[in-house]
Amino acid sequence: MLKIEANDSHRVTLTLNGRERSGNARPRTLLSDFLRHELGATGTHVGCEHGVCGACTVRVDGVASRACLMLAVQADGRRVDTVEGLAGDDGPLSDLQAAFRRHHALQCGFCTAGILNSCADFLGRERDPSEAQVRDMLSGHLCRCTGYTGIVRAVLEVAAQRREQRQEERDDV
Ligand code: FES
Ligand code: FES
Repeated sequence: MLKIEANDSHRVTLTLNGRERSGNARPRTLLSDFLRHELGATGTHVGCEHGVCGACTVRVDGVASRACLMLAVQADGRRVDTVEGLAGDDGPLSDLQAAFRRHHALQCGFCTAGILNSCADFLGRERDPSEAQVRDMLSGHLCRCTGYTGIVRAVLEVAAQRREQRQEERDDV
């Protein structure tokens, strides 16, 4: 029978923001610690470390997930997207990041990486969200600075912009 020791090191390979990356993890290493300490993806922030604050949220195979509630070994072979992947290398901000800046949707920014990842997942599923739906999605995130108003405005604006863009693309066909 295979015996797994707590201190055994396992090779974990995943696709991080479109690039294959590998590192070593113990069976109990959290995905958040693996991303930050093994792969250097420090844009993923760690707050409560027990699934409450949402700061550590990344996207695993496109779905917003708490990196502090997932083991690194569970991410082996999967696609993980973090805040670093939202804008291209030294490229312009994504539409979502630009809207956050326009609407002053952050202050200290500690919660922001996680919120952006939840919003990215949400906007991929909801093309015409109501304010209530946006607030419901944000209820999984604690932010001590913003009062959420600017965040809600930014998300609704991006949803509207993307709808317009899709309409224009349809009109061009
Ligand atoms: S650090 Fe993961 S939810 Fe707070
Ligand atoms: S911007 Fe400071 S906690 Fe959200």
